[in-house]
Amino acid sequence: MTFEEVTLDTHVYGGEALGRLADGRAVFVPYALPGEMARIRLTDDKPRYARGKLIEIVTPSPERIAPRCPHFTQCGGCHYQHIPYETQLQIKTDVLRDQLERIGKLNNPPVRPIVPSQPWNYRNHVQFHITPEGELGYQAGGSNTTLPIRECHLPTEAINQVWPLLDMEAIPSLERVSLRGGMNDDLMLILESNEPEPVELEIDLPLSVAYLGPGGALVLAGDDHVIIEIQQRLFRVSAGSFFQVNTPMAEQMVAHVLENLPLTPQTTLVDAYCGVGLFSAFLAPHVGRLISIEDSPDACEDFEVNLDEFDHVELYEAPVEDVLPTLDAHPQIIVVDPPRSGLARPALDAILSLGPDVLAYISCDPATLARDGKRLSNGGYQLQQITPFDLFPQTYHIESISFWTAAK
Ligand SMILES: C[S@@+](CC[C@H](N)C(=O)[O-])C[C@H]1O[C@@H](n2cnc3c(N)ncnc32)[C@H](O)[C@@H]1O
Repeated sequence: MTFEEVTLDTHVYGGEALGRLADGRAVFVPYALPGEMARIRLTDDKPRYARGKLIEIVTPSPERIAPRCPHFTQCGGCHYQHIPYETQLQIKTDVLRDQLERIGKLNNPPVRPIVPSQPWNYRNHVQFHITPEGELGYQAGGSNTTLPIRECHLPTEAINQVWPLLDMEAIPSLERVSLRGGMNDDLMLILESNEPEPVELEIDLPLSVAYLGPGGALVLAGDDHVIIEIQQRLFRVSAGSFFQVNTPMAEQMVAHVLENLPLTPQTTLVDAYCGVGLFSAFLAPHVGRLISIEDSPDACEDFEVNLDEFDHVELYEAPVEDVLPTLDAHPQIIVVDPPRSGLARPALDAILSLGPDVLAYISCDPATLARDGKRLSNGGYQLQQITPFDLFPQTYHIESISFWTAAK
């Protein structure tokens, strides 16, 4: 085993701090802070870089604070509990800028001030793995081992009151268990397994229960969805559908998109990766034609209910990369909100050939955003502004909304 002492210089995307080994190689160390000297054990020793496990902080940073949770550094869910919230916000702003400059090759990107969240108890959805003993836990980063947990400070209070009461010992075939919260603290328990037959479960709690197996979702108790309220609009969200996990921040993102897009009754707008219709529902009243694209059947079913009142909305249930290249429309605006992998190449090429005046890019991964941003700027688009939204406090994840315009 090799131990080293390193001084850390800066934060990088992924939650680690970057320093230099004595031989000059970059070394990445989680849970350390710039300015700290740390004793580390090398866990990944490559010719050009290395990764280290933090063994001991030799010289702590004056910024370091005590983490709130006893599982911090073990469970893999949080990366920043040792950092004051204001500093977390600054780190995310700096990391976003750095990714855009280094990967995106964008010069002095116009990064606006980050929009902060409530730092704790913000998640309306939490997913647990199950230990062989039937306890709920999280999978430590980069491992298949499930660490049983006694507390977690990220879910809402309503979720936190219920999950410690769940006992999954009787259902060994379960892969995962999630709890999703809706309006009025309604909760849905989602049991996930690869077994085609639904599990049997008796739960004496006021919950809806859904079984998500290879054949789709089955309701075992209560409703097949929760209702989530955003800006006085109600969204039906089923067990298998995506929804933003931080409800108050989703409200702010919707407001930001509405404020910054040049919407008119003549506008044709494409909302790609539309989910259950969060952005579509607020955009629809302001445009002449809305084309929404989503490949999850569950989300599409929810979308149809959520946007039932609009006659000028078309929903394609298919991959964005299949729909956009053959789309018979001339959208002035395209909104994209892809998963972490970003835009598939055919989707990005199709956006360039559709040539909207404005592209709004909602991203949950600055690295893939920067990769796509480089392709967009090579294709004639210019980044007008980008705002980070802190949807995931205590973690390294960075959400952002950027607006790109076609160069005249
Ligand atoms: C980050 S979520 C955004 C959803 C929605 N915009 C919202 O804010 O609630 C990404 C969505 O894209 C869908 N999706 C993922 N890959 C897709 C693809 N290749 N084509 C179409 N939809 C896809 C997922 O099912 C999910 O609903």
